[in-house]
Amino acid sequence: ARLAVLVSGSGSNLQALIDALESQQLPGAQIVLVVSNKADAYGLQRALKHRLPALYLPWKQRAQSEQQLVALLRLFEVDLIVLAGWMRIFSAEFIEQFPRRIINLHPALIPDDGSGATFTSSDGSIIPVFRGMHAARQALEAGVKITGSTVHYVTPEVDAGPMLCRQEVPILTGDTEDKLQERIKQVEHSLIVEAVQLWMRTA
Ligand code: GRF
Repeated sequence: ARLAVLVSGSGSNLQALIDALESQQLPGAQIVLVVSNKADAYGLQRALKHRLPALYLPWKQRAQSEQQLVALLRLFEVDLIVLAGWMRIFSAEFIEQFPRRIINLHPALIPDDGSGATFTSSDGSIIPVFRGMHAARQALEAGVKITGSTVHYVTPEVDAGPMLCRQEVPILTGDTEDKLQERIKQVEHSLIVEAVQLWMRTA
């Protein structure tokens, strides 16, 4: 499978994919393109260090940027689009052009079918589904004991597509948003690799 990885920031999950590819954990996969909507995203530098095509695509007008992105994805013959810390919301028109071919990593627990306001964790507790940009903070503020990360298919509704895989992360006493976000990221680094493996098996 030919992957495009879309980033907006540090790109530690992109790095996890690069490492998995280099250590043969993703046979049959290759990253053919890395795109960032931020010129200074460290993810771009990670890509360049590993000699991967890396592009900064400004995102001032969504319709225009999406058109450019579609052209790029077609040109590079991308099979799977991995949103790994990508902070822009796509239009339904964009998403519908790549059915089941866009996956997103979200730092919270999302139900199997993606929808609904609650999630039942492995210990039976019912927790709210935290969507959007500050999921770790929301989990702390809600006082839940368990959060996690989910890789899900992207549908027009934000952070609400069917899940591919997920993992729980316990919230510890003394957790701050940064500490929790960091522990979630550690889990994500293997989750994102697992998600690509799963996708390749089901695609
Ligand atoms: C991850 O926590 C991901 O769940 C969220 O953004 C973060 C990206 O981190 N969507 P990085 O850029 O891969 O380090």
